[in-house]
This record gives sequence, structure tokens and C-alpha cells, in this order.
Amino acid sequence: MVDLSVQLGALVLRNPLLSASGTFGHGLEMEHFVSPESLGGWVSKTVTLEPRHGNPAPRICETEAGFLNSIGLENRGVDSYLEKIVPALKGVDAVIFTNVGGASPDDFVAAVERLEEADEVDAYELNLSCPNVQGGKLPYGTDPKMAEDVTRRVRDVTKKPVFSKLSPNVSRISDMAKAVEAGGADGITAVNTLLGMSVDWRNGTPGLATIQGGYSGVGMKPVALRCAWDCVRSVNIPVIGCGGISTLDDVLEFLVVGCSAVQIGTASFSNPSLLAEMAEELPARLAEAGFDSVRELIGSMHGLERPGGSSK
Ligand code: SIN
Repeated sequence: MVDLSVQLGALVLRNPLLSASGTFGHGLEMEHFVSPESLGGWVSKTVTLEPRHGNPAPRICETEAGFLNSIGLENRGVDSYLEKIVPALKGVDAVIFTNVGGASPDDFVAAVERLEEADEVDAYELNLSCPNVQGGKLPYGTDPKMAEDVTRRVRDVTKKPVFSKLSPNVSRISDMAKAVEAGGADGITAVNTLLGMSVDWRNGTPGLATIQGGYSGVGMKPVALRCAWDCVRSVNIPVIGCGGISTLDDVLEFLVVGCSAVQIGTASFSNPSLLAEMAEELPARLAEAGFDSVRELIGSMHGLERPGGSSK
């Protein structure tokens, strides 16, 4: 029997498989494809203090490998989330991460303060990295000081675990990782989407109304893997890998470079049952390779050093 459980700071997950924010509704919408008990956890779509209508259409556009999105954090706001979504999460047997966004540190703090009344929310994931608001400027995703500040401001108002979700659209993600660790993050999600665009040369029409948007899908896996590894070797807090993961081999690659868990996003659109299938296959795949627990694999890549000196 292979032990699949992983530890993310104070959180224990039954396995390292999580849904990625924005690709799984708020979680329960996908219940008939993936039961909560088969997963390590669910991450909600981003919730903001006030409702947001999002960006103009078209805001999804397929590419050769994966797609571009420019949703613009459409959601009904934190009060609606508390009233309509959270009650249904009562008794759900999975660790629930609520992903929180905001245009200012005050917004993040106010949303988290409202969410504190919900025992169903186990942890927060701070969306510091959405490329589809503020004209793609990504202030919290690219400025270490701002990322540290917003993380610290949230850290100060909750005892629940706080994970900061970083952007790959930076030259040194290690600086961002160290900044959020200094701000008190319990962990990091690496990474959000890559800034990209598409255009039809025949009629000159961009694929997205906002022209640029976030690219996700299998094509970004090597970039995401490098980002995740760079975070792992720069900080002593757990890293959740995310970006282009579509097979169990991809999952195991992110674990071997030191991620404590992974999130599956875009691949769930073409196969909504993928997470459940992976959860079922994972023990046999690890056993075949001689592992008694998933933790033995985590961080076992040759040459991986963490700042604290441990290879895990
Ligand atoms: C969006 O809502 O625009 C996507 C969310 C994100 O990339 O963080």
C-alpha cells in the first residue's frame, strides 16, 4: 500500500493532486466527474471583495497547444460566495483552498476578513498573478515588495494557511518566492499563466478582445517546471507546482523537482475526469517504481538543494 499523503505546512492532503483555480468552478460543479474524496484538495475560482463582470468577449481562444484566456476575474464577489457556495461545501471531504484576488492590499485583506467566518475554507491562495486585469501589468506578480506586502497584510489577519500564487512572467521568480516567504506565506503556487496573444493574419483580428491574455496548456509545462524548481530551491516553504500538467508522468516530474503537490488546470477541460483517473493510477505507478510513499519521491532530483540545506 503506497502512502500518498503529503504535508503542506500545517495541512495534510490525502494525495498531492489539486484542481487549479479557474478550471474547476468552485469545486462542487465537477463532483460528478471527480469526487472530493479522490483528491488532495480543491482550489476555487478567484473570489474578489466586490462582484466583477470580467473582460469583454472573446475571452477564450484556442491555440495550437492549449489556450489563451482573458476572463478578467469574473465572479459574484465574496458575499455571494459566502452565501451561495460555502454552505454547500459543509462536510465536503477535501481540503478547500479559496483563491482570493484584489486590486489593492486593502481589497485582499477585506475579502479574507469576510471569508474568516467560513470554517469550510481551509486555506487561502492569493492570486498575485492574474495577467488579465490592470492591462496585464501584474503589479503584485512582478514586484517583490508589493507581493511581500500583500502577503504580509493577509498573513496578519488570518491563522489559516496562506499560499501565494506567482506569475511566470518575471525574469527572476526566485526573488518573488523569497519575497512572499518573507511576507509570511505558508506556501507558494508556481505558476499562473504565461502572457500570450494570438491573431488571425487574414483579417487582422486578435483572438482575444483584450489582445493579450494568459496562455495555459501543455506547451507551458517546461516553463512551469523550471519556475517551480526555482521556487523550491529558493525557499523553505512548500511549493505547489502548476502549469501544463496533463499526464501522471508530468505530476511525478513536478514532485521529483521538489513540489509537495500539484494543480491540474487546462487538461481538465478536455478530460473533466482526469484528476480522478490520476488519483486512481498514482499508487500503482509509484509502487512499480519501488516507492512506498509519495514523499520519498518529492525533491529526490539529483543536485537539488534547498536554502535550509535539506533536499526535501
Ligand atoms: C482570469 O480570470 O482572468 C484568469 C485568472 C488568472 O489567470 O489568475
